[in-house]
Amino acid sequence: MNSSQYWSKITALLIFLLHLPSCISIDSITSNQIIKDGDVLVSSRKRFALGFFSPGNSGKRYVGVWYNKVPEQTIVWVANRDNPVNGTSGVLVIDGDGGLVIYGKDRTIPLWSANVTLSSPKNSTAKLLDTGNFVLFQNGSQRVLWEGFDYPSNTMLPFMKIGLNRRSRFNRFLTSWKSQDDPGTGNCSYRIDPNGFPQLFLYKGRAPWWRAGSWIGHRWSGVPEMTPNFIFNVSFLNNQDELSIMYGITDDSIFSRMVLNESGIVERSTWHDQVHQWIKFWSAPVELCDNYGKCGPNSNCDPYHADKFECTCLPGFEPKLLREWYLRDGSGGCVRKKGVSVCQNGEGFVKVSLVKAPDSSTARVNLNLGLKECEEECLRNCSCMAYSNAYDLQGGNGCVTWYGDLMDTRTYTNAGQDLYVRVDSIELAKYAKKSNGSLSKKGKLAIAITSILVFFLVIFIAYWSVKMKRKGKERPNLFSFGATRSIYLENSPCRTDPDDSGLKSDLPFFDLSTISAATKNFSNSNRLGEGGFGPVYRGVLSTGTEIAVKRLCKNSGQGNEEFKNEVLLIAKLQHRNLVRMLGYCVQDEEKMLIYEYLPNKSLDSFIFNETKKAFLDWARRLEIIFGIARGILYLHQDSRLRIIHRDLKASNVLLDYDMNPKIADFGMARIFGANQIEANTNRVVGTYGYMSPEYAMEGLFSVKSDVYSFGVLLLEIITGRKNTGYYYDNPDSNLVGHVWDLWKEGRASEIIDTSLGESYPISEVLRCIQIALLCVQEYVDDRPTMSKVVSVLGNDAALPSPRKPGFLLKRSNYTSGDPSTSTGDANSINYVTCTIVEAR
Ligand SMILES: *[C@@H]1O[C@H](CO)[C@@H](O)[C@H](O)[C@H]1NC(C)=O
Ligand SMILES: *[C@@H]1O[C@H](CO)[C@@H](O)[C@H](O)[C@H]1NC(C)=O
Ligand SMILES: *[C@@H]1O[C@H](CO)[C@@H](O)[C@H](O)[C@H]1NC(C)=O
Ligand SMILES: *[C@@H]1O[C@H](CO)[C@@H](O)[C@H](O)[C@H]1NC(C)=O
Ligand SMILES: *[C@@H]1O[C@H](CO)[C@@H](O)[C@H](O)[C@H]1NC(C)=O
Ligand SMILES: *[C@@H]1O[C@H](CO)[C@@H](O)[C@H](O)[C@H]1NC(C)=O
Ligand SMILES: *[C@@H]1O[C@H](CO)[C@@H](O)[C@H](O)[C@H]1NC(C)=O
Ligand SMILES: *[C@@H]1O[C@H](CO)[C@@H](O)[C@H](O)[C@H]1NC(C)=O
Ligand SMILES: *[C@@H]1O[C@H](CO)[C@@H](O)[C@H](O)[C@H]1NC(C)=O
Repeated sequence: MNSSQYWSKITALLIFLLHLPSCISIDSITSNQIIKDGDVLVSSRKRFALGFFSPGNSGKRYVGVWYNKVPEQTIVWVANRDNPVNGTSGVLVIDGDGGLVIYGKDRTIPLWSANVTLSSPKNSTAKLLDTGNFVLFQNGSQRVLWEGFDYPSNTMLPFMKIGLNRRSRFNRFLTSWKSQDDPGTGNCSYRIDPNGFPQLFLYKGRAPWWRAGSWIGHRWSGVPEMTPNFIFNVSFLNNQDELSIMYGITDDSIFSRMVLNESGIVERSTWHDQVHQWIKFWSAPVELCDNYGKCGPNSNCDPYHADKFECTCLPGFEPKLLREWYLRDGSGGCVRKKGVSVCQNGEGFVKVSLVKAPDSSTARVNLNLGLKECEEECLRNCSCMAYSNAYDLQGGNGCVTWYGDLMDTRTYTNAGQDLYVRVDSIELAKYAKKSNGSLSKKGKLAIAITSILVFFLVIFIAYWSVKMKRKGKERPNLFSFGATRSIYLENSPCRTDPDDSGLKSDLPFFDLSTISAATKNFSNSNRLGEGGFGPVYRGVLSTGTEIAVKRLCKNSGQGNEEFKNEVLLIAKLQHRNLVRMLGYCVQDEEKMLIYEYLPNKSLDSFIFNETKKAFLDWARRLEIIFGIARGILYLHQDSRLRIIHRDLKASNVLLDYDMNPKIADFGMARIFGANQIEANTNRVVGTYGYMSPEYAMEGLFSVKSDVYSFGVLLLEIITGRKNTGYYYDNPDSNLVGHVWDLWKEGRASEIIDTSLGESYPISEVLRCIQIALLCVQEYVDDRPTMSKVVSVLGNDAALPSPRKPGFLLKRSNYTSGDPSTSTGDANSINYVTCTIVEAR
């Protein structure tokens, strides 16, 4: 009998002699204690618990760690994930060798054991720490013999490291469960690949599925959402001993976890006690362009591309399989244009901005080179295809060079790096002409001269402005010169609010005199119309930039706090389907918001206008519908905040030069805490006809009230009629009711805007009508979320049948509000005050 068998026997004996008192919470066990099924270890500050559990509908028993304080059992770590215990006979013990083992019914062969290599048998203690780490210590010395954090399952907890020990080659990474009911090792993993310029990858099986990319200073190149903040304290290590990432958390009352689930999605969520729910914080992959190699080699995936197809070839490349490419299958990727040589033949580089740099598994890194040397380095080697900075800083340092095909490049709107792609001399000249990307020597000279001139001009203007100020005259408008803006701010008479310190917005601050000059002193001829809470003016700054100014009524319901919130809120919102705010002004009683000016005005001026309707063919309308849906989706879930717009309507959708829709007017928007599902207000604001029943009647609003408004808007776009309009054929009904009646009778096609002519595929339009009807259903829970809407708009999946919509009947005594007042005119519906704002 060898010693391990001997010790097993002893252990088996102990099992029958000793029992843990199950109601006493202790955080550790030693060699003479056991944990049997039903016993629970609780960490010292009661954050985590360890014991036997059965996941989902499984009857099998596993030893795992879960949150002690979270009522819905949330497993964060599993010991015997691939070797479950049948029945409740399992025990966890420290065996005679000092290692941790789990036994099933058979007490001689362990089902699972922690791999501890000890030269001689030692006494040890296993302890559940407050971080959720289950650690085996050597008694006396506090030396860690083994720890659960080295063997993560599908959850990354704060202070857990994933990555590589470069000396032992031991790699820690997340692996998904097999299914909700089986925590066994699944086939998705989330791990750091040390090759080339190290990257974090999500793999499905062995194939890369999503690439978080390389560490570029303070974030992963493929996670633009990751910004340094006061809650997470991220430390990335890359030295000769170690390559790892750890997310710390500064406030340990927050429960935050990152889970890799069976479908290959990593999601960070936090526990919200008020709603008793895990709320999603971030997840990936989310977009088509996140899928690894979506567009094949040497291409760029641009989800924001004006044309719908997201794949484009990198400069100097053309589609490999033209036919597939035009059928919008980009997976074949791109190849060098025919007959082009980029070797020792006058080649250069074209800059591709705001991208996630390509897969760098085979790239080379030299952190000591600057960008210029990097370019030279790349030019020297004919097989170097591209280069970029290793850090995400403007003019930052470090040099990454790529050899061979460039895989998995994608564009971001507001983040990303500059990638310099090698092209031949002809291509180079072509791009230089467009004055973008890598410039010729002549171009550089021109730029240099221009910048010197601009520099002197700035100095001159600054000098002049100081002089003017000394004379006590009005300052000229300087806002467009970033360098002088701060000086300007400090002296600004707008800073009247003593506790203005709360308004630390990233948005520029405008002076009242600047705005006044731009709008010809708010002249009537410059008045564009009426938004919620005040008139909107068109203006031209002295720099030539066109702006739209929303001047909030002095006695408007929008208080100082709300105004500040709006400024702070919108500063954080960046989306191509939202109107961009350029700045704001607060002075005395005046509060103003300055937006980009959109020449094509609002959607209602097109769809409800008999002649202008014709500009919008079906393809154009569909693009507009998509754009609006994406904008709302961004507000609801993709921005860092959850925002309910509350006043979506045709007049609040503006159109830019290319007829891209942009959602405007956040005067009534509400920020929802990430935990909030629904809110109640006793002041219902919004526009009659677009308001969902629960909002108009009970003041209850949620993302689903925006979905309702979107549904109404969708019907208006398809039919070219106002929801509140009059129908000779159905005089008691509004548009929603009218369409519903026709739909039920299978005659929905009769309502399609006749000015669309024959330009549309009927099935596509009917599908949109069906989606609209799903959005306006009476019961909140029946309505789809915006993400559902966006996905069904984009595919042909079967749709459910819509149920009865809310608000079928027209309000008989509806009187429209006076457009010159904002919140003043109130119509009462069941004691609820209702702001009616006339369409602009
Ligand atoms: C548990 O039961 C399954 C079948 O139900 C069997 O295949 C497996 O070997 C059993 N495991 C143990 C450890 O007894
Ligand atoms: C312990 O090591 C063995 C062999 O190296 C391995 O098969 C087993 O999975 C390891 N156990 C754990 C819990 O890591
Ligand atoms: C373990 O601890 C016990 C009690 O402290 C002691 O009797 C025993 O000799 C120790 N065993 C070893 C291997 O150190
Ligand atoms: C090991 O140390 C713990 C305290 O750290 C103690 O409670 C336990 O009795 C010790 N076990 C042995 C076997 O010495
Ligand atoms: C992952 O596992 C599931 C179920 O076991 C299987 O259907 C799927 O094909 C696997 N995927 C890969 C990429 O291996
Ligand atoms: C953040 O992490 C670093 C390194 O791990 C540590 O030195 C620092 O104290 C941490 N800061 C906070 C606030 O926890
Ligand atoms: C994985 O997470 C995503 C996002 O939260 C979710 O949509 C999906 O249903 C999850 N998959 C599974 C199998 O739980
Ligand atoms: C160019 O780079 C490739 C790939 O790294 C390398 O194999 C080759 O030796 C380099 N050639 C020169 C001339 O440096
Ligand atoms: C050139 O660059 C400007 C901004 O720098 C950009 O707006 C424009 O679209 C670019 N043009 C081309 C052809 O890439």
